[in-house]
Amino acid sequence: MMTPKALVAGNWKMNGLKASTQEITRLNDLINTSGAKCDVLICPPFTLISTFAGLGAENVAIGAQDCHMNVSGAHTGDISAEMVVELGCKHIIVGHSERRADHGENNDVVNAKAAAAQNEGATAIICVGETIEEREAGKALDVVISQVKASIPQSATASNTIIAYEPVWAIGSGHTPTVMDVQEMHKAVREVLMSRFGASGAGIKILYGGSVKASNAPELMSVPNVNGALVGGASLKADDFYGIISAYDEIG
Ligand code: 13P
Repeated sequence: MMTPKALVAGNWKMNGLKASTQEITRLNDLINTSGAKCDVLICPPFTLISTFAGLGAENVAIGAQDCHMNVSGAHTGDISAEMVVELGCKHIIVGHSERRADHGENNDVVNAKAAAAQNEGATAIICVGETIEEREAGKALDVVISQVKASIPQSATASNTIIAYEPVWAIGSGHTPTVMDVQEMHKAVREVLMSRFGASGAGIKILYGGSVKASNAPELMSVPNVNGALVGGASLKADDFYGIISAYDEIG
């Protein structure tokens, strides 16, 4: 069975100014010196994409945190997939729970945004995850599976789609699900991908996100069907983030 190469991705959210450029340079240097057994991606705010992509940091891909569902038009304040792809982004996060909650983005919107990203040749990192109420009501699997099914667009292929499972209650909280819960969820997501894409569904990365840090990364990243991490807070400093990347030295 084909196991995808792991990806450790940083989502900087609404953090970072020009001075943060030094973190990308440092991260690139750390990888040059000490290596990385996974692919590495940083998704800074839109304002920093051009600066970071222009550094020529060959070990650190730069992606975007969102895009509009349309290619262009009268959408004040929005950014299209074409715009970030032009800057060098090959990955676009869509459907992060903060956008689902703060901007009312439902599965249909997420589906359209993923299609917009893929239609520009980018890989859509489609985020899904249950709330604490949904988990406590025993609905986590149902909620996440229906999010995955409804958020993957027609344009999706095994090579332009990544799923990120991020339990809402684990984000920024310091709490993580048990290894068994992560395993159960990622297995269920894999089954959806296999039924949608056939054998090539085995090659789609399923990232885990939510309070990943260097100390818990080796355990979480070793779980079957966990093909990397989507990291918030611990991605802002190169040394912290490299600690997560190094988990793959132990996992092999
Ligand atoms: P934290 O790693 O800060 O919990 O954030 C996770 C996340 O939301 C990444 O998209």
